[in-house]
Amino acid sequence: MTERDRPQGHLGGVDRALPRGARPSGWRRETGGSPESSLDQAPPPDRHHDDLLAVDGLRIAHGDVALVDDVSFRIAPGERVGLIGASGSGKSLTASAIMGLLPDGLSAAGSVTLRGRELVGASERELSRLRGKDLGMVFQEPMTALNPAMRVGRQVAEALTVHGTARRRATARARELLDRVGLPERTARAYPHELSGGQRQRVLLTIALANDPALLICDEPTTALDVTVQAQVLDLVAEGVRDRGSALLFITHDLAVIASVCERVLVCRDGRIVEEGPVETVLSAPEHDYTRRLVEAAL
Ligand SMILES: Nc1ncnc2c1ncn2[C@@H]1O[C@H](COP(=O)(O)OP(=O)(O)OP(=O)(O)O)[C@@H](O)[C@H]1O
Ligand SMILES: [Mg+2]
Repeated sequence: MTERDRPQGHLGGVDRALPRGARPSGWRRETGGSPESSLDQAPPPDRHHDDLLAVDGLRIAHGDVALVDDVSFRIAPGERVGLIGASGSGKSLTASAIMGLLPDGLSAAGSVTLRGRELVGASERELSRLRGKDLGMVFQEPMTALNPAMRVGRQVAEALTVHGTARRRATARARELLDRVGLPERTARAYPHELSGGQRQRVLLTIALANDPALLICDEPTTALDVTVQAQVLDLVAEGVRDRGSALLFITHDLAVIASVCERVLVCRDGRIVEEGPVETVLSAPEHDYTRRLVEAAL
């Protein structure tokens, strides 16, 4: 199937923004093994009704092997939360699970609610209504996330039309949004390969924020960029969520980035959250050995 044949639009731009190997297919609950699901075993703790996102006892497994185990955390509306941890600790899988975009072959159990609405077990149809509208996501590699055969302006406009904006309005709005992230007017007519890495990441951010999502998830959005461009993109992320009142889940290896962008941080190790707290506290006085080592390694 060529890029042109690929079905477009039904996921609000996020279908193009999948990491390699991921396929949007709704949530797959773990099957087999014990008849008791982890939901039966571990009822979710008290729900705070003002939470935007509540993750409770999230477990992601490959066969019998747990890759993410019993992860629970909350994000309040407008809150900016960092997720740090060594390579392979389960950060991206956690983000993919929230989006309902786990790679093939992996299963999930537990609970993920957005404004109290359960996403685990939700149909692909329900999830695609949320993705790109209530949930926006920016991945590390913009080139794999953008459609190489479609002009940038159209990709941004499509993120709006799939969620109900009329085409003419969406075309105009796409230009406004691209302008807002500092991209020149001609960008709308460009193809992704005609842009720099930093410009492509701005386009992805534009798509992710196009519908003013309640939660923006960024998975290492600046790792592939050089330092000055990184700073510009980070500023745009911070400004984008602030202007819209969106909450942010920001994944990175870079503790300095967490300190500049986030209020609270979660530390992930071997598929578990081992520490969480306000950024200043966790980075200046880490309680867990693992966090201490991460902080020392970053100095
Ligand atoms: N499709 C898959 N099938 C099997 N195992 C996987 C799959 N994707 C990820 N894993 C494993 O799950 C674990 C967590 O992966 P994940 O991508 O979430 O790590 P990460 O914290 O994002 O790492 P990095 O910082 O390198 O991006 C790793 O051990 C990885 O090898
Ligand atoms: Mg990752």
